Amino acid sequence: MKEKIDQVREDFLKDSSSVNNSDDLEKIRIKYFSRNGLYANLFEEFKSLPKEEKPKFGKLLNEEKKSAQSKFDELKKSIESQASKNTEYIDLTLPGKDRELGTLHVLTQTLNEIKSIFKGLGFSVYTGPEIESDENNFEMLNFPDDHPARDMQDTYFINDSFLLRTHTSPVQVRLMKNSKPPYRAIMPGRVYRNEAISAKSYCLFHQVEGLVIDTDVTFAELKGTLVYFAKQLFGEDVKYRFRSSFFPFTEPSAEVDIWWQPKGKEGKWLEILGCGMVDPNVLNNLNIDSEKYIGYAFGMGIERMAMLKYGIDDIRLFFDNDNRFLNQFK
Ligand code: PHE
Repeated sequence: MKEKIDQVREDFLKDSSSVNNSDDLEKIRIKYFSRNGLYANLFEEFKSLPKEEKPKFGKLLNEEKKSAQSKFDELKKSIESQASKNTEYIDLTLPGKDRELGTLHVLTQTLNEIKSIFKGLGFSVYTGPEIESDENNFEMLNFPDDHPARDMQDTYFINDSFLLRTHTSPVQVRLMKNSKPPYRAIMPGRVYRNEAISAKSYCLFHQVEGLVIDTDVTFAELKGTLVYFAKQLFGEDVKYRFRSSFFPFTEPSAEVDIWWQPKGKEGKWLEILGCGMVDPNVLNNLNIDSEKYIGYAFGMGIERMAMLKYGIDDIRLFFDNDNRFLNQFK
């Protein structure tokens, strides 16, 4: 028995020293470790040994097989790592992976442009919450209860005293409540109106409000500021007009239109913003001395600006998140 064990060990060492690839390895596995392999044969013979010899050879045989097996495992590992090294190479001629870059939403781009125009005129940026009190959204702005002007803005009420703001004008109120004049700020933000959804109107949109209050502000300054703004956004030769209008919180009030001339179509005047001199009632509501201070305010829809600037004809496109639309503004 001893000689047989020695012989198998010797053969195994010899065979395993000439292994070059996984085929050689597989031959060894079959020859030594399979069900009819040499080690299995040895164990078979072991069964017929006399009883007193069994402990000694049992131990020896187990050790032999274990050490051969671990040598085999080592060989297997080294052959496998060799193989993976051989297949791992970089083909420098392959084209690179194309990663698609995202982009700012066209409304954000338009807002950034509007902001940068007003920042250049010394305006700071101020914001407020989308859920507002009736007081800030209406009352302080000179919309008394039951005033028909409340019907101009179809409101989503949360309860008797809170609502989704219908315009950014309550942010003016917040600014006036929280700090003392003079003010020169714009207030961008999302607003909500309960309107039937169509190409022209959506249940939410974005506005930029402006408020300037000081001791010597004039309507001429309001006009100069807004004309400068329109020229910056739409081009030096934009055709514009100021048309008298009404807002409860400004007196006098105006709307600004620009001439809109799509290629091959009939041109028309389109309203781009509302504005006016802050009504003294609003200043009084907010404990600002209306004998000393005077100011102007304006408000515009960002969607409207983007639609005019880029020739977009359906407001719903801004909210659909369709990449075919969004990708055009990269
Ligand atoms: N808040 C008005 C609106 O949403 C716009 C506006 C703002 C008009 C400031 C005048 C002054 O219709």
